[in-house]
Amino acid sequence: MLNLSRLSEPTFSPHSLNKYASIMACGNGYMGIRASHEEDYTQQTRGMYLAGVYHRAGRNETKELVNLPDVLGIELQLDGEHFSLLAGELLCWERELAFSNGELRRSLVWRSTRGKRFRIDSRRFVSLDQLPLVALQFSVTPLDGAARISFSTGIDATQTNSGRQHLDETSVQVFDQHFMQGVYETQDRSTDVVISASCQLDTPSENCFTAKNRRLNCHHALEAEEGQKVTLEKIVWITHRHDKELEQSAFAQKGLAELKRCAEQGYDALLEQSALAWDTHWQTSRVSVQSDDPQDQLTLDYSVWHLTAMTPAHNERCSIAAKGLTGEGYKGHVFWDTEIFLLPFHLFTRPQTARSLLRYRWLNLAGAREKAQRNGWAGALFPWESADSGQEETPEYAAINIRTGLRQKVASALAEHHIVADIAWAVVAYWQATRDSDFMRSEGLALLMETASFWISRATDVNGRLEIHDVIGPDEYTEHVNNNAFSNYMAWQNVHDALALMEHFNRQDDAFTEAAQKFLARLWLPSTDAQGVIPQDDTFMAKPAIDLRRYKAQAGKQTILLDYSRAEVNEMQILKQADVVMLNYLLPDKFDRKQCAANLAFYEPRTIHDSSLSQSIHGIVAARCGDTPRAYAFWRAGAAIDLGDDPHSCDDGIHAAATGAIWSGVVQGFAGMQIIDGELHLTPQLPAHWQRLQFSLQWRAARLDILVKGASVTLRSSAPIAVTLWGETHHLLANETRTVDLPEFGTATTEGGNNV
Ligand code: BGC
Repeated sequence: MLNLSRLSEPTFSPHSLNKYASIMACGNGYMGIRASHEEDYTQQTRGMYLAGVYHRAGRNETKELVNLPDVLGIELQLDGEHFSLLAGELLCWERELAFSNGELRRSLVWRSTRGKRFRIDSRRFVSLDQLPLVALQFSVTPLDGAARISFSTGIDATQTNSGRQHLDETSVQVFDQHFMQGVYETQDRSTDVVISASCQLDTPSENCFTAKNRRLNCHHALEAEEGQKVTLEKIVWITHRHDKELEQSAFAQKGLAELKRCAEQGYDALLEQSALAWDTHWQTSRVSVQSDDPQDQLTLDYSVWHLTAMTPAHNERCSIAAKGLTGEGYKGHVFWDTEIFLLPFHLFTRPQTARSLLRYRWLNLAGAREKAQRNGWAGALFPWESADSGQEETPEYAAINIRTGLRQKVASALAEHHIVADIAWAVVAYWQATRDSDFMRSEGLALLMETASFWISRATDVNGRLEIHDVIGPDEYTEHVNNNAFSNYMAWQNVHDALALMEHFNRQDDAFTEAAQKFLARLWLPSTDAQGVIPQDDTFMAKPAIDLRRYKAQAGKQTILLDYSRAEVNEMQILKQADVVMLNYLLPDKFDRKQCAANLAFYEPRTIHDSSLSQSIHGIVAARCGDTPRAYAFWRAGAAIDLGDDPHSCDDGIHAAATGAIWSGVVQGFAGMQIIDGELHLTPQLPAHWQRLQFSLQWRAARLDILVKGASVTLRSSAPIAVTLWGETHHLLANETRTVDLPEFGTATTEGGNNV
């Protein structure tokens, strides 16, 4: 077993309830449950979500990830007094999420307003080996004499998405005087959700069930002696379906049978099985660091935990929401975040999951084609935000101006077209890292050709030169510009790769080839100045710059919009997030170190980092430029978005992309992993206070274990592999271990067999 970190909540605070509910959320890619407390607090937002369960309720709404009936809430009465940490006195507190087995635990001692102390312990987990399973234990121990304890818990379907009800209750029932079940249906009748739950007390009690006002509850009451620990165990099985082949009652019965099987095994046995699954997962995915600062390892474990908990690896019809399965921010929609920030982790640890994420796009090609066609273009224009289909889900309007009553239009769906090239970029990365020709022949080439065809039709001929007009690049503070460098270069790459791979796979399409060649020859690629700076778009360099320091000090809060209108911001050199720097990151073989450094130096002072997708990318580019201290500062700032002190930074869910960027910041930043000309490169340079870094990568048929220690790297590969280390290519045989010192420090040594 690996020695994994634990994420702890240092104290109970009503102000940070929702932050911790997000960062300590449990999940398995099939479902996610916010780490809310069992007892209610007015400010606390409960949330349980199933990947792919979306619903649109009401006019002018987009689909949203449905907040399901709650199963974690427990109302506890102690000698008739309602248990809440807002009353009485909290004498002792511990709460932590153990990454090793996925268990969230809380332990506290509370003095009631009548002066009696109680110890309360709770544990819960979402199973990694049985996806529909959640289990919890909740224990109470009276510490000052006997006490009357009563618990009420069940399935609470009064949950909403900020007041929106998505589910109708079809039936609620109690079976065998013990098992509760609620059957629900989305209001559009497309999806059934069945929640089955059992509640068992380890001590004889009076109990009964009630079903009222959308709450199915089980109530237990008993007298407990001083020091007697009373434990309630709740096992829950949650399933859903979109196809209605089976009778609803038969589908519900299946859920009940699974619940009974699990309830028989009990919490501890179920946890052990799930912990084994986590252990296997950590063996291949963990990034271990030996650092003077223990926060660094915690940050990495946090990242891999959430990358696993948020990713629906089991279902290619779903992708990853911008907040994973931890909250309702962005309504659970899928953005470019998936391909650019989240897919790399999967690609290099479990490539089949990366494949599944790409298949989600492929399965939704029809919607993307339709969007392109509706707008007069060819090929596929993927939606800026999507849910469970290829339809555009970006809300038409954003926040309302409450003084004028007018709503601000969201332009992303109309012009943030770079997502098309981002998806193509991910397809090519997948091909390079896996050489999966089956995927390329069926899905990969279709994605590349459709996206390339879009760009070819999207370009405008200006006196013989092709330009791309009226777009929004990654920097969303600059809208409706011509020749955004990011979009043009990425579009060029998209078309180039489509052509190259069609040739590689002997796919003949003369009309496409001719159009693609013309596009590549004539598309305008904004060129660098003498220093290497690329203009962000046609008009950017002529706009005035202002001192952004006070806005940068409050990065992520978009405070600039309190002082300037969006239209004014658009007319200044103000970036929300990495744009040209993002381009430098994505196409490492196109820009040399000097150009990257020049763009970093020019654009960073003009970038507020108002998006969580920004600092980490600056960090990776800084690392590639050899500025490790700066790279580390960006990496920590990126991680602090959710893990830092701000009590409200992630109330509505973690920033999924920032979580992916923690992994990328280390693997692609400090370890310098890049794909150049289709080959694997590493140029490790660790922060000064890191003594060692260890991780594994899946590259084609090989699992490559990498250990960086000071200025030397030890590689071990399970299959023959070529790796370029600090510019020199090494060919390793299967099971060969090789240690290489940074060139000026020494030479390579080879041995057989040992594990890194
Ligand atoms: C960023 C986008 C991102 C979205 C979802 C926005 O604030 O500007 O780049 O895709 O958040 O994370």
